[in-house]
Amino acid sequence: MAKLTEIGWEEFERLPLEAKKPYLENGEIPDTPFHTLFAQQFDRELLERLARLANRIRFMAKSKEGAMYLKSLLCHKRAMLYFSQPSSRTFLSHLAACQILGLTTGSVRDTAISSEFKGESKEDSIRTFSSYFDLIIMRTPEKGLAEKMAWELSNSSRPIPILNAGSGKDQHPTQALLDIYTLLRSFENKGGLRNRTVTFCGDLMRGRTVRSLSYLLTNFENIRQVFVAPPQLQVPEDVTAILAAKGVEFTKSDNLREAVTLSDAVYMTRIQDEWDESKGESAKIDTSRFKFGAEELKLLPAEGIIMHPLPRRDEIATCCDHDPRAMYWRQMRNGMWIRSALIAMTFGFEKQIMCFGA
Ligand code: MLT
Repeated sequence: MAKLTEIGWEEFERLPLEAKKPYLENGEIPDTPFHTLFAQQFDRELLERLARLANRIRFMAKSKEGAMYLKSLLCHKRAMLYFSQPSSRTFLSHLAACQILGLTTGSVRDTAISSEFKGESKEDSIRTFSSYFDLIIMRTPEKGLAEKMAWELSNSSRPIPILNAGSGKDQHPTQALLDIYTLLRSFENKGGLRNRTVTFCGDLMRGRTVRSLSYLLTNFENIRQVFVAPPQLQVPEDVTAILAAKGVEFTKSDNLREAVTLSDAVYMTRIQDEWDESKGESAKIDTSRFKFGAEELKLLPAEGIIMHPLPRRDEIATCCDHDPRAMYWRQMRNGMWIRSALIAMTFGFEKQIMCFGA
């Protein structure tokens, strides 16, 4: 059993992501993550276990008895939500997930009013949270900080799990979990998540949700990936290198309409201009052909779905919102259930929940 306490930080940092997976597992519960940092920790079996657990929690939460039971499970635990990057959905759905399971919560969302303002390092701040809380859910602009903190805390006298709720331009594993959960549910009675075409469109260069979801999709049989973007915002090499190594079929394109006609799912993303290196850089790119509107809706197959991690700007016209194929609102709610499932699993309550009422 690989342990973070038995590997130095530099050596761990250098490992390929898939090789890091065993170090992040819960030593006492087989095949279960302790820290959740990136998509490479999830294989198909684990994704399907999480989806089943999320379905179960969703069902239980409908009755007072089930909801009270869920609330009792983690009422002895506290979670810290450290979000130093803007967020609405990811923050609130993690908060709601904690509430479903009875965790009490604290949060830092503005480091200008925390001790970071006085010059404290992020590492010291996070170490401080671990004195008061049993789980840290964190979103930061720094690539790798969640990973570094997971290593630090596992090597401290109070090892508590870290859950990455978005790290820089890099990864957003829980968003990818909710995206997969949405795809699994959408195709559940239609032949399942296999032999499908998923089109990603928008800012694929800097969208962390794309990197995480593209990887998770490789766990499923014959999922072709199409990347539609202006050349300056096309999907980065590290993403396609993984697909090539795994023998996954993919294409790059700048023709959204053509891709839509062949897609089972279209995953729209916004332009991530907060990462512009020079002011107004993104605004100079012609993105007019990378938007989903009434015309694209006509071209989408009858069983196709439209997804978006949100927030949206104008990349999906509001006229699409009431179409039954628009999945983005349901996708958002799915996030609360799958995050509840992940937290429950992290703390070892999977079996207990699955057996409730049996
Ligand atoms: C993210 O945090 O990456 C969002 O969910 C997607 C976005 O900001 O565009």
